[in-house]
Amino acid sequence: MVTLEAKIADITTLDVDAIVNAANKSLLGGGGVDGAIHRRAGKGLLRECETLGGCETGDAKITGGYALLARHVIHAVGPRWSGGNRRETELLANCYRRSLELADEAGCASIAFPAISCGIYHFPLEQAVPIAVRTVIETLPSTPSIKHVIFACFQDNMLALYQAELDAQAPPSKPA
Ligand code: AR6
Repeated sequence: MVTLEAKIADITTLDVDAIVNAANKSLLGGGGVDGAIHRRAGKGLLRECETLGGCETGDAKITGGYALLARHVIHAVGPRWSGGNRRETELLANCYRRSLELADEAGCASIAFPAISCGIYHFPLEQAVPIAVRTVIETLPSTPSIKHVIFACFQDNMLALYQAELDAQAPPSKPA
């Protein structure tokens, strides 16, 4: 049985096996949640990221968590929103799928996601939330080590959106 949960949280404070970073293709840090994760993790994270050779949009790479409580950081590169005709939906879904696959390979039982692409990259939250929830639910059967998924909500309007989507797609009475 897998637990899916949305909660108000600063993802950098969560004590989970893996947190997902909304990174850019360089993997060398930036603003938003990326900047917050690097600040709290410390310089070791940047040094490991420098060895990774960047990452394509829709893909992800895993590192250690350094000074974070999280054991791992999974750096996923979401698409920039440019109207919806540049495979943004598919690329965003790929980020969630690849992140779960990497977490599973690393033996993670718990993972927390931010709303990838929904800040500086301007993906509309109302469209991103159903994609995130659906892709996680579709991927979980092939990532058996994962038992707990958290959608970390940083803006006030996010929690209700995730909660409605979870209620619709993964009602509590039915195992996810
Ligand atoms: N905890 C949880 N969620 C957060 C946090 C936090 N501490 N901080 C921000 N968010 P963004 P993107 C939310 O802009 O749109 C960076 O420069 C935020 O409210 O961090 O994928 C990268 O290097 C929003 O809902 O990521 C890239 O260049 C969500 O995280 C670019 O931004 C994602 O917002 C990626 O842009």
